[in-house]
Amino acid sequence: MSKPIVVSGIRPTGYLHLGNYFGAVRNFIRMQDDYTCYFFIADIHSLTTHPTPTNLQAGVKQVLAEYLACGIDPEKSTIFIQSDVPEVSELYAFLNMNAYLGELERTTSFKDKARKNPENVNAGLLTYPVLMAADIIIHKAKFVPVGKDQEQNLEMARKFAGRFNRMYNHELFPIPQPFTFDGGDMIKVPGLDGSGKMGKSEGNAINLYEDPASIRKKVMRAVTDAGPTTPNSEKPEPVQNLFTLLKIVSTPDVVAHYEEAYNNCSIRYGDLKKQLAEEIIAYTEPIRNRIIEILKDEAYLAKVAQMGAEKARASAQATLNEVKSLIGFKRLF
Ligand code: TRP
Repeated sequence: MSKPIVVSGIRPTGYLHLGNYFGAVRNFIRMQDDYTCYFFIADIHSLTTHPTPTNLQAGVKQVLAEYLACGIDPEKSTIFIQSDVPEVSELYAFLNMNAYLGELERTTSFKDKARKNPENVNAGLLTYPVLMAADIIIHKAKFVPVGKDQEQNLEMARKFAGRFNRMYNHELFPIPQPFTFDGGDMIKVPGLDGSGKMGKSEGNAINLYEDPASIRKKVMRAVTDAGPTTPNSEKPEPVQNLFTLLKIVSTPDVVAHYEEAYNNCSIRYGDLKKQLAEEIIAYTEPIRNRIIEILKDEAYLAKVAQMGAEKARASAQATLNEVKSLIGFKRLF
């Protein structure tokens, strides 16, 4: 029996942070044995918001090294760079002919980005979900493991896949499903700014690549309050967030110790933060060291990228040939 196909991508516009790691990447690693996985670096997508070449290559290399350092195994999964597979751009062009201005303009992520960057509302931004659909359906993916913020984009991919099938009267593309991890294993990592979740654009993130001094600095600056005055009181969100982080990177006895101190009002947030910083360092340091090692090994990175590109192109070409023949392109020579 062939394994179900999974596709997921990440834009190379920043470092992987603890939120990416516990939210998605750790789960990608667990999926590698049971699914045919395509994990890619969406460098074309990154041009919608980062149009100049500055740091593009460095970003691609960094994310590739980070994926590998986290444990994505190029022997098990296909890990590749989006722009190495030109078939994706070709399918994107075809899908664009059946993507309508109205539906694209209504997409939340388009409206958000247009509002935040009114001077750069480009057509690539508008058709971002079309390119994402091409990424997914070119490998006939059944599942896409993405977080809540990508649900609408995935909904668009489902729409474009179904529309193509109907238009050409052929069940070519499976309708991709959001992949949800069993047992609530998608851990939502809070930020250090007292609210919401960790994210690179929120500026509240700790990266896997972060050096210890910087981790200490960020954690010590995390938002708290004046401290509890009545025993066993409920924790306000910023304080709860620190406990949540501690729970993620530390052991139950350490968490219990600070819970008790909170409950009997003897807690000193300085101590909690120092401990949290050291626990985060202990957790991330081996990953960071692997990232550093891999970044040094240009030949290995090149080999991984080439192997991934070959595997991804083989799958993409097969689908694209079917697409072209359904659309009606005939070879005259
Ligand atoms: N839009 C995704 C993000 O911002 C990245 C992405 C591009 C993606 N193409 C994809 C994710 C295909 C899953 C599948 O995170």
